[in-house]
Amino acid sequence: MIVDERFLSELVAFCRSKVPSDPNLTVYEAARLLRQLEDGVAISDISCKMMVSSVMAALGFLYYKGVLNVNREECTVSTPEIEWNVKSFIELEIKGVSRLLPQREAISRLLRKRDVEIIFEFSQLPINVESLMRKFALMQSFQDIDGKDVIFIGDDDFMSVVCSLLGLPRRVVVVDLDERLLEGIKELSDEHGLNIETVKHNLIHPLPKELQGSFDTFCTDSPHCLGGILLFVSRGVSALKRDVETAGYFVFQTVNEPLLMEFETRQRLVKLITNEMNGVIQCMLPASIKYITPRDEKEKLMDVFLNAVKEPSLDDYFKRIEEALRPSSRFIEFYPEFSMEAALIARVAFRKPKPLIEGDYDKEAEKKYGPVYSWAIIEKHIAEKS
Ligand SMILES: C[S@@+](CC[C@H](N)C(=O)[O-])C[C@H]1O[C@@H](n2cnc3c(N)ncnc32)[C@H](O)[C@@H]1O
Repeated sequence: MIVDERFLSELVAFCRSKVPSDPNLTVYEAARLLRQLEDGVAISDISCKMMVSSVMAALGFLYYKGVLNVNREECTVSTPEIEWNVKSFIELEIKGVSRLLPQREAISRLLRKRDVEIIFEFSQLPINVESLMRKFALMQSFQDIDGKDVIFIGDDDFMSVVCSLLGLPRRVVVVDLDERLLEGIKELSDEHGLNIETVKHNLIHPLPKELQGSFDTFCTDSPHCLGGILLFVSRGVSALKRDVETAGYFVFQTVNEPLLMEFETRQRLVKLITNEMNGVIQCMLPASIKYITPRDEKEKLMDVFLNAVKEPSLDDYFKRIEEALRPSSRFIEFYPEFSMEAALIARVAFRKPKPLIEGDYDKEAEKKYGPVYSWAIIEKHIAEKS
């Protein structure tokens, strides 16, 4: 037993005080890590179930409370009972995942292949490998992949490749504007015999006729603003088959961001999807998506942790971790200000899907729902401020 009552209540108080500014360290995540440590589970098992930064935050807390020892030379963390030898959390994630899934090498190649310069004008920002796996697991648990016709509305994540490598979809189509991504997906598809179809198309315009009404599942991670979500989800909805039960996945933020998604905006979004597009929200997985630049993904996160625990206090530790994990693209330099991290995946079921935006996203649509790209909103705000 490594935890006593007093320690647990201190932990709860600490986490509560931390929650508003750090969506990664919730009482729930820290308590879950403690429980797992108590059970002597391997860290790889933990990190394939928890966000990496939650693991880091909780490990830091335990270290500063004297519950964990850290050996920098040996790269180990230990309690009096158990010792873990770990080199990189990312390696651990992949290890953890690969124990369940056989395509480890292919996933590593996928991460390398999608590591292209981000076009921030297209709101590109891939999710990390952990989030890819979570998303796959969620879609698979609802039986939305195997034997299904699946369309990806924008795919800088290469989620289409993950689903094809790890699942058994009948048909997979990716629609995107960025040829570099489509080529990368095509190459991986050819290499692994996945038969993914890629279509270059600007989603400002309706989907090509032959893609409409043909799919069981759509998946999108749109720009994070009302206009962007409604446009990408509308295109996904237009791709769904009619009169059978189908599903769509989209992502939105759960925190109030004055410029992008305030409470009222989220309320409006959900109402439009259910009332106007005839969707039933069946599941929302909180804090399930984390964005990271591919370059950061290669960083040895354990090194970050080992260096950060040299800081004299827990607060300094958190500052250090936050800096180290902060991605570098221009778009997300504003990341901390906008706390993009606490994004959730929503699954919506449809029977009589009806896209809200049927024609082009024109001036009229923009007047009603705002711009499509979140960066445009942020840039405007920054220009006004300076
Ligand atoms: C919009 S990004 C989303 C990234 C992430 N959710 C974010 O905003 O932080 C997802 C994909 O949509 C593609 N995309 C952006 N605008 C598009 C457009 N007008 N037509 C087609 N694809 C587009 C991007 O190339 C990218 O691959």
